[in-house]
Amino acid sequence: MIYIKVLVTGGLGYIGSHTCVELLNNGYEVVIVDNLYNSTIDVLQRIEKITGKKVDFYDFDVCSYEAMDTVFSENKIEAVIHFAAYKAVGESVKEPIKYYQNNLLATLNLCKVMLKYNCQRLIFSSSATVYGKVRSLPIKEDAPLSTTNPYGTTKLMNEEILADICKANPNFSVVVLRYFNPIGAHKSGLLGENPKGIPNNLMPYIMRVAANNEREEKEQVAEYKYVKVFGDSYDTLDGTGVRDYIHVVDLARGHLLAMEKCFNSLGIDFYNLGTGKGYSVLDLINTYEKVNNVKVPYKIVAKRDGDIAACYADTNKAFKELGFKALYGIDDMCRDSYLYQKNYIKEHGEIF
Ligand code: UFG
Repeated sequence: MIYIKVLVTGGLGYIGSHTCVELLNNGYEVVIVDNLYNSTIDVLQRIEKITGKKVDFYDFDVCSYEAMDTVFSENKIEAVIHFAAYKAVGESVKEPIKYYQNNLLATLNLCKVMLKYNCQRLIFSSSATVYGKVRSLPIKEDAPLSTTNPYGTTKLMNEEILADICKANPNFSVVVLRYFNPIGAHKSGLLGENPKGIPNNLMPYIMRVAANNEREEKEQVAEYKYVKVFGDSYDTLDGTGVRDYIHVVDLARGHLLAMEKCFNSLGIDFYNLGTGKGYSVLDLINTYEKVNNVKVPYKIVAKRDGDIAACYADTNKAFKELGFKALYGIDDMCRDSYLYQKNYIKEHGEIF
């Protein structure tokens, strides 16, 4: 059997770790580079526990050319999946230099080293954020691109950088994946999303409110008494924001299909990874309560700056060209997030 060795940058993060599991379960060898900026080392053991396979790990920063040169000189890397990046929208507005420096330099360095070692296949972790203020739904890959914050701009700039690299290097093959809203967790309950600090995203916030609500009244934390629903006057069915939530394991599977594409074609191509279905904030809260039999109190508060009413994917291109179709629904996503929450609390005593 011939093993294909894949480098996964940011492989201990939320999407990265689930993708490593899928790669290992499908016969790939995996090398992870992760500087633990937004992840913890125990995720490595969890990936190995779930898959029963060994992973090579480097606690390196992708922004260091020397470090990446070492990784490529010690391994015959045939393809790269590049997740490592800063991803907090609000922080990017306050600290744009930090975001441009990290998110652009990482990709530039990586591509430089890849070219040096003749590694020509790359999957890039992009985001539906590149569609900016959405004009028509569902969103197709050829929709106009724009951004509303520095984080989003780094994703769009990276897409453009990669297109130029492909133009200059006709043997390069890049697949850009534009993620919609990943939630859910691995069915083992061992991998999931539990961000450091107060979560910006809806699902991790719902999880904390649910966990807080299960505590004795006197032990409850004020911050997580209820979910703050950012506005109920959007032009949507119930007035709250609508998003295309996708199970993180489905998203991870999408990377394997993108990998096959990378091995079979040249140049750059762009794909949405979503389910094509939109759910509102209240849909998600209600589903979480229903499938897990828990309480998630909420209050309507002011809209969040920069939010749009609705965003969901046209999934036809990913289906036709990659064979990608999401298998899990919103109930599965809510159930698996809760399973991770339960498991996390069992292991650590608390989730926040
Ligand atoms: N929301 C709340 N309360 C919260 C958090 C979110 O009501 O505490 C609402 C938002 O207004 C929005 C929905 O829940 O309507 C989803 O918000 P998230 O923050 O979970 O996700 P976003 O769609 O805003 O952003 C996500 C990623 C970005 C990425 C974008 C791509 O966080 O990195 O999807 O579309 F760029």
